[in-house]
Amino acid sequence: MNLEEEVLVLRDVLIPGGRVCDITLSDGRVSHLGASGKADTIYKCNDQIVLPAGIDMHVHMRDGIQAQKEDWESGTKSALAGGVTVVVDQPNTIPPITTGKILQDRAHLAEEQAYCNFAINAGVTTDADLEGMARAGAMAFGETFAGPSSYGEALTRDDLESAIHTIKNLDGLVTLHAEVVQEGQDNTLATHDTLRSIAGEKQAVQIIQEIATPGSRIHFCHISCADTISTIKSKDIGTIEVTPHHLFLSHDSCTPDDTHAKVNPPLRTEHERKRLWECWNKIDVIASDHAPHTLQEKSVPFSDAPSGIPGVETMIPLLMAEVHNGRISRIDVIEKTSTNPARILGIEPAGYQPGMRADFALYPKVCTSIQAENLFSKAGWTPYEGMEGVFPDTVIMAGQVAYDQKACIKTNPTWIKGRGYIPVK
Ligand code: DOR
Repeated sequence: MNLEEEVLVLRDVLIPGGRVCDITLSDGRVSHLGASGKADTIYKCNDQIVLPAGIDMHVHMRDGIQAQKEDWESGTKSALAGGVTVVVDQPNTIPPITTGKILQDRAHLAEEQAYCNFAINAGVTTDADLEGMARAGAMAFGETFAGPSSYGEALTRDDLESAIHTIKNLDGLVTLHAEVVQEGQDNTLATHDTLRSIAGEKQAVQIIQEIATPGSRIHFCHISCADTISTIKSKDIGTIEVTPHHLFLSHDSCTPDDTHAKVNPPLRTEHERKRLWECWNKIDVIASDHAPHTLQEKSVPFSDAPSGIPGVETMIPLLMAEVHNGRISRIDVIEKTSTNPARILGIEPAGYQPGMRADFALYPKVCTSIQAENLFSKAGWTPYEGMEGVFPDTVIMAGQVAYDQKACIKTNPTWIKGRGYIPVK
């Protein structure tokens, strides 16, 4: 232990398995589990649920010329306030991340502004320098667009095949936006669901299965239906990510042309939403696909509105409300928001055991009503308005308090690089 480091103790924590003990944190790690000694700061946790903090492996932090939607400061404050200490930024920025230089510039911008740890994914386009981005520190590749979306053009089958092959040779992880999209008039949530159908999602997954060579590491982003999950699992094609909006919202409960609920892949019917929950045990990761667009940008006719829903701050709170109401376990939340994303991405996991990364979120045992005015995102709205959430009181990052009683505190966020990173001498 570095003796000059601050020592923080989480007192009387209920550890999974039933033991109640103190967790001592110093030098960014858990230094001891059991009765604690001298501490600079003590948090009494007997009335709280203490979880390893989340990794949200799918966020769009925007910034640059899209800073009116979100920037690194507002987006990472939003993450912390939702119990997330690592965000993985998607490369469909303007300009897109296609070279090592652009990726490093993005990381340096984040280093100046971010309040939580972050990683940056490499863009997968026909002209992208995949190897250069791996060496520059890309965490993963994609979301790789098998179907078009906001700020992302679809790759052809041949281009997808070639990219997956190159990424495999770089020992990289391909993250996929799996949709086959039909042409047609897209003026309601129902037509959006039809044009970007369940069958299209399944078809995209099947194409990936056909073109991925053995040994490719594939992760499917925001899978929206039970049938696709069954296909991926039965054929063992890749890991599965599901968003809170597909679990908690359906277009049946929205006004037919509500642009705020327009997202890719689309919200499905209530029937499909319930079927998605039946697959809960097969889902590897819950990630938000935090895609902030402003109220003004959403206030246009449906067919012109950008797709995307903000959600990094409400993701774990919505899940913790399910824990509170006895529908899922806290172990489920830890696995799907922290341990599994860490394993899939190769990030050191946060956890209770000595030596582990000391990132924790302390949740009260009460639900509150989700209100946009209380959220940090610049988007300024949430589709979960009025729904129940359990928000953390305190968030610890690398053993330091990074969020407490609704205030974000600047600590020392780090850029977490992917396994292909080669430092420049
Ligand atoms: O709805 C979406 N919005 N889906 C995506 O895949 C991209 C995202 C965005 O960047 O706005």
